[in-house]
This record gives sequence, structure tokens and C-alpha cells, in this order.
Amino acid sequence: MANIKFHLGEELPLEMHKVRMVQRLDLVPIERRLKAIEEAGNNTFLLFNKDIYLDMLTDSGVNAMSDKQTASMLVVDDSYAGSATFTRLKDKLNEIFGKEYFLPVHQGRAAENLLSMALVKKGTYVPMNYHFTTTKAHIMVNGGEVLELHMPEALNPISTEPFKGNLNLEELQKLIDKVGADKIAFIRIEAGTNLIGGQPVALDNYIETSQIAKKYNIPFIIDASLLADNLHFIKTREEKYKKHSIREITRLLSDTADIVYFSARKLGHVRGGGIITNDQGTYKKLLEMLPLYEGFSTYGGMSTREMEAMTIGLDETMDEEMINQGPIFIKYMVEELVKLGIPVITPPGGLGVHLDAMAFLPHVPKEQYRAGSLGAAMYIASGVRGMERGTISEERNPDGSDHIAAVELLRLALPRRVFTLSQVKYTIDRLAWLYENRELIGGLEFYEEPKVLRFFFGKLRPTSNWQEKLVEKFKADFGESL
Ligand code: F0G
Repeated sequence: MANIKFHLGEELPLEMHKVRMVQRLDLVPIERRLKAIEEAGNNTFLLFNKDIYLDMLTDSGVNAMSDKQTASMLVVDDSYAGSATFTRLKDKLNEIFGKEYFLPVHQGRAAENLLSMALVKKGTYVPMNYHFTTTKAHIMVNGGEVLELHMPEALNPISTEPFKGNLNLEELQKLIDKVGADKIAFIRIEAGTNLIGGQPVALDNYIETSQIAKKYNIPFIIDASLLADNLHFIKTREEKYKKHSIREITRLLSDTADIVYFSARKLGHVRGGGIITNDQGTYKKLLEMLPLYEGFSTYGGMSTREMEAMTIGLDETMDEEMINQGPIFIKYMVEELVKLGIPVITPPGGLGVHLDAMAFLPHVPKEQYRAGSLGAAMYIASGVRGMERGTISEERNPDGSDHIAAVELLRLALPRRVFTLSQVKYTIDRLAWLYENRELIGGLEFYEEPKVLRFFFGKLRPTSNWQEKLVEKFKADFGESL
């Protein structure tokens, strides 16, 4: 499919599916959008769907399901314990990943909770390619310290490095030499590194990390939530594995890890999660905690309907024609934005388009949350909901000061097989308008701030009347148009 050429020379992402069920959308007027973002405390998490045109908050639990997935939900074997649905899912995971033991959980962070409780002790370190918000919070709650051993290129917004998510192996060796292997709770690689722009990790990097982990007897854990995109990038960017099938790549990748966990809201396109391993000792330890926090070992907080659909979703993830549907749309959008000179993370990654708010709004002080401000402005200008992935998403320093994020991103997620090309073009158009009018965008300040994971429920206000001015300019430029 990637090879389809267009006679007129344009390069367009081409859908390998047809739409047979649709959901109506509305675009509310800009006056309502201004009011809605104020009611939401300038936090896009707190907007309601009725006020949103395109929901690009996340791909989590909102990727389109296939007809086969939906159909499978009717033929579940529903029971509290021992359902055949569970056995089918367990067997599918074993077939794809080669891991014998499976602990179902209600979503990805539940896996992080169990793993952190089982493995992280006070004073231990958890080196990783990059943190994810919930991962870091669980490790910190258990007294561990997260160390980000990324490559220097990882934080460079303008790059051609194909695998910006790679773990820095030299730094890993230095850390082991310095603190000793017994102080390291586990090593974690996050596939498709979320917070630096959905950037992939090379298969060779997983292999080399696992060799070091084995040498020092340190558990190696892969967070496979964003694995689908990462598989596509290994297949298309890592020369050595171009001829391998997605199934072969998945198996090689999985074989490097002692434990693989995932949010099935992303991997498998349902709502759930899981932990898989071949290590019976770890399995038994985690199994003891499972009924306390999640549910019985054959459902773990998930509905059997979701589990049945996950079995199909995982199988479909082994199809390059399916998993490329996120990345090719993202690539199109990133390349169009680059042409317009709009600062965006390159090379295009998975999950979504990541605008570089640091470069978009250099005139807004860092302490006034550039990515959060851009997210509020984007919603006002377009009805498109993105997600702040910058300083607001960080926990404060122990002294109470803001921990200024290394990268300040507004993420516009493109859930797989959900949006059309004209919707993507509309988003590009509104971004172009915002960029031309960027001087009008100002900062934000907290007026309600939770202590942990503040980005979910925190509320902020604009530091001036910049939002009203933005609306005025919009109306001057677009007239009565929405
Ligand atoms: N790990 C990664 C890499 C993730 O991206 C997420 C979720 C999780 C773990 C936690 O999984 O949400 O099922 O509990 N990312 C979502 C996002 C929230 O929008 O990127 P969860």
C-alpha cells in the first residue's frame, strides 16, 4: 500500500478500510468555545464532547474498532472465573508474544501499579528511555527514582534520526557501574516513546538493552502500549528488519524482555490492559495482588466483551496495512505543517502530531505553560481538542517550584482510522491561522492545582484578556463562519 503512486504527483495517505458506521459531530460557534474553555479551567481534559468538533486528546480507547472486533463482542463466554474468552486471549498473547503467563488488568496504569509495588523498593532506581506520566507517578509513590537515559537527539525537535526513542546504552552501563545492579529495580523501555512525540525504539536497541540487563541480572520490562506504531517504524525504518514480517519483529522484540505490559486502550484497540511474562516467580507474586486491586485472574477488571475484541485486535495488529494507518496520516500532517513553517516534532512519529509549543510561543514565559496555552488557543480557534504534554504534565519539584519540562508539546492525537483527510486538512488550516496570529496568544496560571497528576483535574486562567482578543481577530478574519 505504501507503494501506491498518484498520477497527479500528490502524496496522500490512503485508507485501507471503508466506513460503515458513523457518529454525528457538531462545531459549536467560537463564542461558545471561548465559554467552554473557561468553564474547563483551560484544561482540555475538562471539556465535554458536546463542545468538541475533533477529539484529538488521545488515541487511548478511541481508535476505531473493526467489524470483526465488534462482532466478536456478541459471542463472549461470560463468567466471573474461568471463561473461554480469557483462554482465547491468553492463547493469542502466547502465540504472538511467546509469553506463557498473562495477568489481565483494567488498563495500562494498573499494570504499572502492580509492577511498581512488586519490584520498586525505597531508594531504588528505574532507568528508562523516557518516562510516562502514570509510570513515573507509580514508581515515585513506591519510593523509586526514575532516570531518563535517552539519546541526546531525543529532545531535539527538528531531527531526521529515525529512532529518537532509543535507550542510551552507554549511560545505562555508567549507571550500573555507579550505583550497582542491585539498586536497579528494573530497566524499562517504552515502545513509541509517548512524551517525546511518539518516537520509536529500534529493535536492535531492545536487543542490546536486554543483553546488558541479562549480564547484570536486572529485570527488563517493555511498556508495549504504543507497540503498534513502533512495529511499523521498525519495519519501514530499520534496514536490517525490512524483510521480516510484523509477527517476526514482534516476537524478536518480545523475546528480549522478562516482562511486557500494555494498555489495551492503545494496543488492541479496546479498553483494558495486561502483563505477560515467562517468569513463574514474578507471575505468582503479581497474581497474589491481582484480586485485591483488579479482579479475578481471568478478567482483571475488564469486561469479557472487551477481552474478546482484544483477541481480534491483537491479531489485526500483526497486519502492516492496519498499523500503518496512524503513522501515514501523521506523516502527511507533519509534512504539511513543516511546509508552512509551523514548529512540529520531526521526524513524524506515532500516536499523533506534536507541536513544539516552545518554538510556537517563545514570547510566553515558560512558567505560564506554553503547551497548555497553545492547547487552549487551538480549541478556541478550531474546536479541536489536543492534550498538553509539557510542564503542566510534570509533578512539581520537592521545593514547590515548577519542574519545567524538557519538551513543551501540544499533542494532536490521530486515533487510528477515525478522522478523514478533510478533517486533517481543516486542522492544518486552523493551525496555520493560529501560527500567523501567535503573538496574540498569552499565558496561563493555576487557580486549582491537585498535588498528583495535576494535568487531569487542574484549572487555570489566562494571565490577560488574550483569549477575547483572539476571538475578535478570528471574527475579523472569518466573519460569520464558525
Ligand atoms: N504507558 C504508555 C506509554 C501510555 O501511553 C499510557 C497511556 C500508559 C502507559 C497508561 O495506560 O491509560 O491505559 O492506564 N497513555 C494515554 C495517552 C493516557 O493519552 O497517551 P492507561
